[in-house]
Amino acid sequence: MALVSAKQMLEKARDGKYAVGQFNINNLEWTKSILQTAQELNSPVILGVSEGAGKYMTGFKTVTAMVKAMIEEMNITVPVALHLDHGSYEGCYKCIEAGFSSIMFDGSHFPIDENIAKTKELVKVCAEKGLSLEAEVGSIGGEEDGVIGQGECADPDECKKIADLGVDILAAGIGNIHGKYPANWTGLRFDVLEAIKKKTGDMPLVLHGGTGIPTDMIKKAISLGVAKINVNTECQLAFQEATRKYIQEGKDLVGKGFDPRKLLAPGAQAIKDTVKEKMEIFGSISKA
Ligand code: 13P
Repeated sequence: MALVSAKQMLEKARDGKYAVGQFNINNLEWTKSILQTAQELNSPVILGVSEGAGKYMTGFKTVTAMVKAMIEEMNITVPVALHLDHGSYEGCYKCIEAGFSSIMFDGSHFPIDENIAKTKELVKVCAEKGLSLEAEVGSIGGEEDGVIGQGECADPDECKKIADLGVDILAAGIGNIHGKYPANWTGLRFDVLEAIKKKTGDMPLVLHGGTGIPTDMIKKAISLGVAKINVNTECQLAFQEATRKYIQEGKDLVGKGFDPRKLLAPGAQAIKDTVKEKMEIFGSISKA
């Protein structure tokens, strides 16, 4: 199956009261593990690519070529969207050119008028090319590629302004944070989520910072209109832990342990396990 825009799969998720996972990719093993799991579980999936990860993989064109080829070589038939995560204005255009099927323009750090002007322009370009467009209001806390947000809550009126521009998906800060949640985290602000939902109507909403949010909060967020949940750190931690264990046990020194395919295998399996667990919680299994 060719890459698809995220619009249709997220509208289906919103109507079916489940969420599609966006799992960020960093390299071939990450991508393969996520695609394999989605196919095995018959789940739609969104592959997220941050600008930093794109740079690491030598550029967005490499990423698109790799993902498209993997879909073909692995006989992936479930819907897959290739999505720019927290794109800058310039990054959005690079990904459009490189053949991504979905982009996020993170204009949350611009004054609202500038965010609106740039989003409006991207709405037009994405509609012409059949890409889905995610916009963000209210910066998500934590650190993402060196940028530290404050974990603020979005203003529901600003959310409506951006939603009315014709974006397909809206990320709104509701106390969520990228990376690990601090011990004194007070939880998601469901009152804010409800107010945003009221103002934005049918718009599928996105929950960033999916790592470490308790399952009951995830389920409540889905019941209130969240149709896409982003997970990155949890896959990184799972990969790191599995690799560390493998090396500490000296398994990399046994037999053909020098083979990078062997060294990366436990981490790849850990990503598969994490993605499976998340898809179960999000309810996207068998929804392809
Ligand atoms: P986590 O790293 O907290 O899982 O968040 C991922 C994310 O929101 C990417 O945009």
